[in-house]
Amino acid sequence: MSLQKLDIYHVRNLTQVSLIPAKKINLIYGANASGKSSLLEAIYLLGRANSFRAKQIKNVIHFAYDDLTVSGQVLFSTGHVSQLGIQHKQGQLQIRIDQEKKHSRSDLAYALPLQLIHPKSYQLLDAGSQLRREFMDWGVFNQHQDFLQQWRQFKKALSQRNALLKTKRTKELHVWNHELQQYGTIVANYRKQYLIELTPIFLKIAKLFLQVGKINLSLVQGWDCESNLLEILQTDLEKDLRYGFTHSGPHRADFLLTIDSRKAKDFVSRGQLKLLMLALKLAQVQHLLENGFQSGCILIDDAVAELDLSSRTKLLEFLATLDVQVFITATEKNEFGDLNQIGDYKMFYVEQGVITEI
Ligand SMILES: Nc1ncnc2c1ncn2[C@@H]1O[C@H](COP(=O)(O)OP(=O)(O)O)[C@@H](O)[C@H]1O
Ligand SMILES: [Mg+2]
Repeated sequence: MSLQKLDIYHVRNLTQVSLIPAKKINLIYGANASGKSSLLEAIYLLGRANSFRAKQIKNVIHFAYDDLTVSGQVLFSTGHVSQLGIQHKQGQLQIRIDQEKKHSRSDLAYALPLQLIHPKSYQLLDAGSQLRREFMDWGVFNQHQDFLQQWRQFKKALSQRNALLKTKRTKELHVWNHELQQYGTIVANYRKQYLIELTPIFLKIAKLFLQVGKINLSLVQGWDCESNLLEILQTDLEKDLRYGFTHSGPHRADFLLTIDSRKAKDFVSRGQLKLLMLALKLAQVQHLLENGFQSGCILIDDAVAELDLSSRTKLLEFLATLDVQVFITATEKNEFGDLNQIGDYKMFYVEQGVITEI
């Protein structure tokens, strides 16, 4: 699928923008503070009802207004066209899909799957494990519609158990131990299967960008994999009570990326770490495409600036082979790399919140 029309009102410095993007590659350039990230933020709002820069949507609204609207026409590979809209007005968020008022963010996320790569994404491999859990869960969420429900049950069991631990009400604990065991195991199995499927795709893409030894990707499920979670919850009880939280479970999960059996983040260069992150994120998109899911948009903000020219060219050439719509920003036209091999693309110039097709 692709966005074939986009209308933005009052998103940061974009007072009013109307855009007809290319089906595949869209190159967006302009000086610092011209509004490039705001454009990607608007698309992200449309697909996630969330910002990747602000905690609250109200902070994304243009200073001179008190509401914002983003709407888009999405063309599916079947030829079907869907109208998506999101509005934030008087503190209320409204999501519309084909004129119907929908209230859930997940409906929107399925209607417009988005993959975001921005400077913060570079932390994927060296920051805390939260980002890596989100990475796995995004992949599973897009592949399995029932995952969200199971994941919520697991989160609920975990927070109930933690609340009991804090107040030392041990009598009721067994109920939540069982719930945590049940849903936690489901969540862990989904993640494990996901990494198994993702790995070969990731390895192929990583090979395009890097020459390194034998790469391996594996799940750290959050508890000793030889035991079942229920047993661990029971043996951990004293420790859990003392600290007031659950030490083991899928909320402690992670994935481990090794090269020649060594933890990649401990020895590869910054540049290599970036390329590995890029390969992981692109692999997620390709995995969905290979499994027959609607392709979505890839939003790449400023990320190319951090890559050398040859990697930028390889990136664009790879993106051109995928059946997916891409929006990618840079401050200068020539930062995108060699454009000769990428086929159809559109270029947009941004200046003080005004976007012009070149
Ligand atoms: N709520 C807002 N209302 C109006 N302008 C804003 C708001 N938030 C940020 N800006 C301004 O919008 C401009 C564009 O920001 P941004 O999209 O991040 O630029 P770029 O990515 O091109 O460097 C900046 O000048 C910024 O100060
Ligand atoms: Mg920016």
